Amino acid sequence: MRKPFIAGNWKMNKTGAEAAVLIRQIREGYKEDAVEVAVCPPFTALRDAREALHGTNIRLGAQNVYHEESGAFTGEVSIPMLQDLGVELVIVGHSERRHIFGESDGLINKKVARVLKSGLVPILCVGETLEQREAGRTRDLVRHQVMEGLKDLTEEEIGKVIIAYEPVWAIGTGRSATAEDANGVIEYIREILGELAGKNRADTIRILYGGSVNKENAASLLGQPHIDGALVGGASLKADQFLGIIRSATGKESV
Ligand code: PGA
Repeated sequence: MRKPFIAGNWKMNKTGAEAAVLIRQIREGYKEDAVEVAVCPPFTALRDAREALHGTNIRLGAQNVYHEESGAFTGEVSIPMLQDLGVELVIVGHSERRHIFGESDGLINKKVARVLKSGLVPILCVGETLEQREAGRTRDLVRHQVMEGLKDLTEEEIGKVIIAYEPVWAIGTGRSATAEDANGVIEYIREILGELAGKNRADTIRILYGGSVNKENAASLLGQPHIDGALVGGASLKADQFLGIIRSATGKESV
């Protein structure tokens, strides 16, 4: 049984004070114990977000991390620094990190491994560009990113990862994948996880869809058997949208 999971990726939005306001609005409408929820504010808003989340079971996530513990890595943030702020989850390998900041599969693999070793949960993002999709390379690309991102991890470690399938052409464009199409790619990702970690374990791993999810299309996406939740960008910055998406995940039974 996989508990539905909805995470908000706030990207480079919200100061600390603004984060507290948004979290207060989300708290007011949030009652869903059947859905696991997380928000991922920018680093600078994590402390305020943590305070604003106090007393709820909404989890705190970060959008990125560096894999070294400390040292001469100007501008980077380490896992112990995130743990100090109460962070439990980290988005790793988001397509904006891959494409704007040039993160390689090798670096992403190091991050996933270190995040897991520290007891935090990585949300590993994979997904094809429009060009790759049009060239019919979606499955090969996704396979490559999953295999490289999870390279050299034990089956037990792989069992702790959350995957987000985010087609790059659907992110921030208002153009979501169709529910059936996203479900098909996610089913394929689950097959790959089965090869890596055994079918039983793969059946417990949550795989989210991300890319222009909003409260209007969430029910159809989340109604698919292999889509266990959503990684939400733009719509997670508006409480009524985010709450609507959480509600759409309520009652979802993934087995
Ligand atoms: P979007 O972003 O919902 O704004 O498309 C999703 C993401 O990048 O995680």
